[in-house]
Amino acid sequence: MRSCSPTVLKGGGLSGSFFVATEIEPMLTPAMIDRLNEQINLEIYSSHLYLQMSSWCAHKSLDGCAQFLSQHADEEMTHMRRLLNYLHETGALAIISGMEAPPHHFDSLQAMFEKIYAHEQFVTHKINDLVHLANTEPDYATLQFLQWYVAEQHQEEFLFKSILDKMALIGTEGQGLFFIDQEVAKLAATKGIKANSMEPAQP
Ligand SMILES: [Fe+2]
Repeated sequence: MRSCSPTVLKGGGLSGSFFVATEIEPMLTPAMIDRLNEQINLEIYSSHLYLQMSSWCAHKSLDGCAQFLSQHADEEMTHMRRLLNYLHETGALAIISGMEAPPHHFDSLQAMFEKIYAHEQFVTHKINDLVHLANTEPDYATLQFLQWYVAEQHQEEFLFKSILDKMALIGTEGQGLFFIDQEVAKLAATKGIKANSMEPAQP
């Protein structure tokens, strides 16, 4: 059970007198702080991954995909900042760790988008783990905070599956690649496709 316990500390001020300080319990458990920090670093990695993929697309003259993924890299940093701010609001320290470099070679545009889809499924899995932890602790404030990420991950999976579906429909050989790039460019202009069933709250 959490409590605020008064602690007598020796003061080092001008008078050298004694004063009573209060140890303030953090609002989150150490386990929750660790997991939220892990998620912060995963969002940064996602941003690095999409920025690297954007550069690969630009290198292959796939300008629509390059623009779309560059925007998506920025979006991942906003996901990270929401988590960072939440930790700050609860009095916890955010810890940015070193991370591995993202891959910079892809066999094809389709292989690259398949990798993105698998990555977003992994992120969804990590969000679900966080929700499970918040539910079992229980930590209802964090549970409420995480609902935005649940809806956001639904949108992300829907978006990238839609792109893969378009690739299957149009094909990626010859002119197909050109048309796919144009379709993805439209997504960059409209900031993606929104699923009807769930919409995350505005930041
Ligand atoms: Fe994200």
